[in-house]
Amino acid sequence: MRASHLEDFYQFLRFPSVSTDDHYTEKVTECGHWLVEKLTKIGLSAKLCPTPGHPVVWAHNKQQPGRRTVLIYGHYDVQPPDPVRLWDSPPFEPVLKNGYVFARGATDNKGQILSHILGVQEQIEAAGDLPVNLHFVIEGEEEIGSANLGNFLSQNRDALKPAIVVVSDTGMISRGIPTMSYGLRGVAALELKITGPKMDLHSGIYGGAVANPLTAMARLLATLHDANGHIAIPGFYDEVLPLEDWEREMWRKLPVNADEEILKEAGVPELFGEKGFSTLERIWARPTAEINGFGGGYQGQGTKTVIGREAMAKLTFRLVPNQKGDKIVALVQKHLQKNCPAGVKLDMAAGHAGPWYLTDPHSKYGEAAQRALKKAFERDPVLIREGGSIPIVSDFRDILGAETLLLGLALPDCRAHSPNENFPLENLDAGIRINKAVLQEIAA
Ligand code: BES
Ligand code: ZN
Repeated sequence: MRASHLEDFYQFLRFPSVSTDDHYTEKVTECGHWLVEKLTKIGLSAKLCPTPGHPVVWAHNKQQPGRRTVLIYGHYDVQPPDPVRLWDSPPFEPVLKNGYVFARGATDNKGQILSHILGVQEQIEAAGDLPVNLHFVIEGEEEIGSANLGNFLSQNRDALKPAIVVVSDTGMISRGIPTMSYGLRGVAALELKITGPKMDLHSGIYGGAVANPLTAMARLLATLHDANGHIAIPGFYDEVLPLEDWEREMWRKLPVNADEEILKEAGVPELFGEKGFSTLERIWARPTAEINGFGGGYQGQGTKTVIGREAMAKLTFRLVPNQKGDKIVALVQKHLQKNCPAGVKLDMAAGHAGPWYLTDPHSKYGEAAQRALKKAFERDPVLIREGGSIPIVSDFRDILGAETLLLGLALPDCRAHSPNENFPLENLDAGIRINKAVLQEIAA
């Protein structure tokens, strides 16, 4: 690993480019500027494109007729670092320990996208140019649903026109095992608010005579699932595509013990999920309903005998082929409204949403990607789907007419979105090798 590569990585990580929180808006833009400068330095034409939200970084080499066009996508925004006190070192002061760099965004997605930039840098240094026409599109809003990137793609469709998109924002099933993902889950968000009395009330004076919004919320949230982990919303599974035998078979043969690893990494006393499916099937091919936040009432020290006036909850649903986000959110809203206990009022607001993605790993470019992974790791790649979401990937198909190759570098213990997020330098190197190999294989 060149010292300058590591220095680039550290500089990139020092920007607290948290997209969801207004306090960081300037830092997000500064991070975008840094990328433009870096991409310019390696010999690309790069610019920062404003949007109603955070800017998009767009860079390309000189486009030459007769060459294939590749779009490499990534994101420079990161999740909030909270809870900061659970980090062993400050989240925006990267440190190297045992070959792993620790910082918010190290894996998701700065290390991964930087490895592509460094791959292009090395290739241009060695050969003066790339074997393909290349675009980098690196956005600042992936972690908040990519609301403005679709427009950017529509506006620049003719200039971009990629034959294929390459994304390294997914995972490897295990260290050293090259992994190509051919599917992502979608996501849809919904916020709930339950209001009761016009103010917080003394629970002795009013308790027993008025409904408690927190109790109502707890009862309501409990209607989302049955005791077996199956989602109890009528119609929720109607459009779910059943898993095919070849997939179940292929995933059963993967060289990992997923149950053991997830038990260890998550630190739970036992695994829990929908009956009738393996752990990997539950994560990669089954939908979920998650409560991401739930609150109200007194949260301070000690006790307070109060009936809080309102309760809130934040929900997201992971979606799988062939569920449609709008339809699912409508079903959920209908179910919740119907099951809302008496004596309170329920308000709901739909949030960001992104569709699932499924592609053919054996397409022409899918095979090219598999050859590139094999070259980079000197071992046959495995084919998986992912439980996470990258909302813009379905727009690459719908707006640009291009499929996406998901060549991830995140390890199972990378702690994306958690304290002590980390990325091994060995994967920064692997990403550089993948970049060179995949551009070569696509060009061929
Ligand atoms: N890199 C992840 C997506 C991912 C996670 C892919 C795990 C494969 C495995 C991405 O940055 C992410 O976290 N996306 C969000 C999108 C959401 C906020 C719309 C997600 O999945 O929660
Ligand atoms: Zn993420």
